[in-house]
Amino acid sequence: MKVLICSDSGRVAELAAQLLAGQVRGKPDSVLGLATGRTMESIYRRLVGIAGADGIDFGAVTTFNLDEYVGLSGEQAQSYRHYMRAHLFGHVNLDTARTHVPDGAARDADAEARAYEARIAGAGGIDLQLLGLGENGHIGFNEPLSALASRTRVVTLARATLVQNAGLFDGDPARVPTRAITMGTGTILEARKALMVVTGARKAGIAAQAIEGPVSASVPGSALQCHPDCIVLLDPAAASAL
Ligand code: GLP
Repeated sequence: MKVLICSDSGRVAELAAQLLAGQVRGKPDSVLGLATGRTMESIYRRLVGIAGADGIDFGAVTTFNLDEYVGLSGEQAQSYRHYMRAHLFGHVNLDTARTHVPDGAARDADAEARAYEARIAGAGGIDLQLLGLGENGHIGFNEPLSALASRTRVVTLARATLVQNAGLFDGDPARVPTRAITMGTGTILEARKALMVVTGARKAGIAAQAIEGPVSASVPGSALQCHPDCIVLLDPAAASAL
């Protein structure tokens, strides 16, 4: 793991966006693994800005998002497909047919998870996977005690995650879907490069566990210590317990 502590969260977002832009510039047909959550919003804003200013061509890029809530269709405002349209897909020249988010409304969610894993393999695997870190240590929706070798599958969300993500659901954890389709930790580890971004004092303790603690299924983010080419970007608040 290469751990970089930036001067502030704006600089974290700028550097993450530059790394994504650099990936696309260097390999125009890159397969990007994308993430959602508040941390990513400023990264996508900057990436859209860089793409506009420097004319970065996303026309041949393929994307795979980490996860989606079971029960939500891509048309629903709380879905991650909707999030991605709002923050990135709608603002750069990505071909919608090349953007992949698990279909939360699929009639058979288990089959959709298996098919999603096969689509990633069919695209030749992921070149660069962007990741956030949940306050309980999850990556994607791989909650604590998910197997480190897990594959894309349907999971039940932890209570802490329902609370953390209630913002989009009128602030009510009871309205957050209780299940999701997520790439597995094992799937994530197969990305050729990984970029984890962690900001804010609330994540200081879990960031320290993920980066410096033992590699353990109790903290799924710690699995990235085993990744051969992983960069972690932190702001000083998130790095304060390292
Ligand atoms: C959700 C996503 C995760 C993300 C996490 C962090 O739970 N499934 O992939 O890492 O949110 O979110 P935030 O950046 O809002 O703290």
